Order: sequence, then C-alpha cells, then structure tokens
Amino acid sequence: MKKSLFMIAASVLFNSSAMAAPSSLDGHAIFQKNCTQCHSLTPPPKLAPPLIPLVYRYHLKFKTKPDGMKHLVAFLKLPNKKHALDQQAITKFGLMARLPLSDKELRAVAEWAWDHSSSPVGSGT
Ligand code: HEC
Repeated sequence: MKKSLFMIAASVLFNSSAMAAPSSLDGHAIFQKNCTQCHSLTPPPKLAPPLIPLVYRYHLKFKTKPDGMKHLVAFLKLPNKKHALDQQAITKFGLMARLPLSDKELRAVAEWAWDHSSSPVGSGT
C-alpha cells in the first residue's frame, strides 16, 4: 500500500516536471537573469540603452512579429553592426557582447521583449 502511493506520487511529480521543462521557457526570467546587468527596461539607461525603446524600433521597421523576431534573434545570436538597428547605441555604448544562451533561450527572450515593446514606453505587465 505504502509503496504504491509512493509510485503514484513519484509518477505525478515526474510527469509535471517533464511537461513543464521544454516548451515553457520563461522569456522574462531569462531577461532578468541575463540582460538586466546592462539593460533596464525603460530609461534611465544602465550600461546599454533601455530594452523597450530598442525593441520598439523592431516594431517600427518590421511590421509583422515573425519578421521582427527573425531580425531580433539574428542580432542576439550574433551582435554586429549589420544586424543592429540602432547604430548610435554602438557608438555610444560599444557593441553588445555575444551571450552564452541557446537558440531556444534567445528566441524566448526575444519573443517576450517583442510582446512588451509595441509602444516606446512598453505595454505593461
Ligand atoms: C554586457 C552588457 C549587455 C548584456 C548582458 C546584454 N546586452 Fe543587449 N546591448 C548591449 C549594448 C552595449 C547594446 C548597444 C550596442 C549594440 O547594439 O550592440 C545592446 C543592444 C541590444 C539590442 C539592440 C540591437 C539593435 O538592433 O540596435 C537589443 C535588442 C538587446 N541588446 C537585447 C538584449 C537582450 C535580450 C539581452 C539578454 C538576453 C541583452 N541584450 C544582454 C549590452 C548588453
């Protein structure tokens, strides 16, 4: 009896953590952990321009989310002048470092950033 209860509990735990892991990368948590040492969300800037006005440029330039995401992820994967929309930021702050994050993590944080930057001051939440 004791043993079978344990088996049920173990399988519930195992299933829920297995389900939570792959698809639910939290873009906000990735931002907090990997970006906030340089980027605030809104002014004043830290070691880099605030993130929301930067990502808002992607909304202005690329009208659809898939197109904007493609370019945003390209910059995050390999920050360089060609990928960057804000050339002045490079002159002022220096080129952003390449981050040791997986493609999936960069995509998740880019998606979160895109969804929160549809206006130059951010869209809350
Ligand atoms: C070590 C500091 C540093 C960290 C950490 C950092 N950035 Fe940056 N980032 C910069 C600097 C400096 C710039 C401005 C110069 C440039 O564009 O390279 C920048 C620019 C950007 C841009 C604008 C690119 C453009 O098109 O002009 C985006 C978007 C961005 N960062 C997103 C992120 C995200 C998301 C993270 C975390 C996953 C992150 N950054 C982590 C320093 C940093």
